[in-house]
Amino acid sequence: MRLRKHHIVAICMTLILWVSAGVVIGCGQRGDGAQTGQQPSSASRQDGADAGTTRDYAEAYPLQYAGLQQARVNSNGVTVGHSAERVGDTCEAPTIRDRNGDPVPDENGNVQMIPESYDAASGTYDIDLLDDEVLVDMNLMSGCVSCKSTRFEKLYDEQGAAAFTSPYNASARAIVDGDYFDCAMCHEGDPGKASMRPGLMYFQVLGAGLADRLDERNAVCAQCHNSYDYRSSIKTEDDLRTMKAYRNGYDVDALFETCWEDGVNFELDEETGLVKSCLVHPTIELFMDTKMQLLGVTCADCHMPKALSDDGEEYTDHFAANSPIENENALSYCLNCHEQMGISSTERMAAFVRDRESQMAAGIETLQERRAAFGEKLEQALNRQSGSDAEVADWADAAKKLYAKVTWYECCLLTGPAELPGSQVAMMDWRGILDKANSVCDEGVALLG
Ligand code: HEC
Ligand code: HEC
Ligand code: HEC
Ligand code: HEC
Repeated sequence: MRLRKHHIVAICMTLILWVSAGVVIGCGQRGDGAQTGQQPSSASRQDGADAGTTRDYAEAYPLQYAGLQQARVNSNGVTVGHSAERVGDTCEAPTIRDRNGDPVPDENGNVQMIPESYDAASGTYDIDLLDDEVLVDMNLMSGCVSCKSTRFEKLYDEQGAAAFTSPYNASARAIVDGDYFDCAMCHEGDPGKASMRPGLMYFQVLGAGLADRLDERNAVCAQCHNSYDYRSSIKTEDDLRTMKAYRNGYDVDALFETCWEDGVNFELDEETGLVKSCLVHPTIELFMDTKMQLLGVTCADCHMPKALSDDGEEYTDHFAANSPIENENALSYCLNCHEQMGISSTERMAAFVRDRESQMAAGIETLQERRAAFGEKLEQALNRQSGSDAEVADWADAAKKLYAKVTWYECCLLTGPAELPGSQVAMMDWRGILDKANSVCDEGVALLG
């Protein structure tokens, strides 16, 4: 396989997750635009759409707007939310970043600012003081906002595919104008009147094959909560049309094969010679074809339940980044089905989920121990034969691939970098994935003799 160094722009899901050290993000895979013949142009997509902006709609729909701006501290102690301000603070911060574009904290967990951006007059760090070259060095490119604002399409209309890798400089920022997590990401036109529609072109074009199968109430979330993240490799219109993330399918094994072929979503550990997966948040992929999905349950059903306002008006809770088990309305929704399965109250529903989460977490822990033992054995075997590596034995390649596959399953079970082991229990066939991971581990150990 080929291994590429990933030079990825700051990413869909994790821009803000830098608070947790060691975030690895932004490996990606390939999708297909050609098949659908979709035209990635905002002009064609927004025909007839209402011209309102998020600010106008915020005033018209204060309950929905307020929900979207909410944040919470998740079970890993990381603050998360879908608000414009949070994204702005990160996408526009002149900070030292890793090769993925994520800010790198110092040993105390503080963000490190870029010295050239210091403005002595105001005593603050100002991104406007940085030139394009520094921004590109920081990996702060416009592709970063392709899954943060529908206004990216204006950049695309101006610059074409080059928009993905052009610096996110003052003029690009002026076009986006702080309108991150805008209503148009999920609503076509006036949100009170109109239909839902995933509004970010990026995933629709590159994620074709999966994106076009989704119910709207999954599709709006899937446009960001997916494993597809290879924006910094998009340089030409041809790239946009020919990248095929889902060419082998979207299940856990098909995705592995595709990424292995493309050499993305893996990292080589130079010291040990082992290849590890760095896949993040394949949420929609792993949700597909689960029992819940087949029953018609969607992301929005569990994460955006109906709520009642103080004056008795029913509305959709837009705090989608909330935990369903910390939300009474969501838990009541679960009981529609789970009551028949013997759960009598929202409190018990939450306890049921927590219990399953700890079962899943225990499964992950055991797997990690077994994977570490396999890795150690493989390392020793590789060291023993390194003298004669003129003909690197086939078994070594085969064993390395098996090892990479175990780490792939592990990333699937953990998904995003700030997520608590087990928190995906309602959203994927975790037992199936654990079984596969354990048997690939066994196969690898057996191969080493
Ligand atoms: C524009 C991209 C985007 C869309 C659309 C989106 N999300 Fe998110 N989501 C994110 C990002 C980025 C984060 C991390 C935010 C942070 O760190 O503050 C996040 C965080 C979350 C979290 C909290 C994760 C945690 O660690 O606890 C949940 C839950 C979530 N999203 C669910 C959803 C659901 C459900 C939908 C659809 C209704 C959705 N999101 C739509 C980008 C998106
Ligand atoms: C992550 C996706 C997402 C985003 C972003 C989003 N909405 Fe919604 N919105 C939904 C969903 C899901 C529904 C429920 C639609 C349904 O049940 O048919 C909804 C419904 C609504 C409704 C209909 C009334 C109701 O509450 O059910 C209004 C009004 C609305 N949204 C306003 C807004 C506004 C204003 C914004 C921007 C500030 C916004 N939405 C952003 C997903 C989103
Ligand atoms: C449309 C019906 C339906 C709804 C609504 C529903 N579930 Fe389920 N849920 C099921 C079924 C069916 C199963 C599978 C039971 C089995 O496999 O024995 C299940 C299983 C689960 C499991 C166990 C997964 C496992 O593999 O151990 C969890 C956790 C769960 N649901 C959480 C939730 C939560 C949380 C909600 C609400 C936010 C919810 N469910 C809403 C039907 C539903
Ligand atoms: C059956 C209900 C259900 C469905 C459907 C569902 N989720 Fe979840 N989701 C949950 C529960 C329960 C949690 C765990 C929250 C916790 O542990 O606090 C969760 C957690 C999450 C998290 C955060 C994980 C963490 O560690 O904080 C994200 C992100 C998320 N869901 C996104 C999605 C997306 C995207 C979809 C659709 C592809 C989806 N969810 C579908 C119930 C659901």
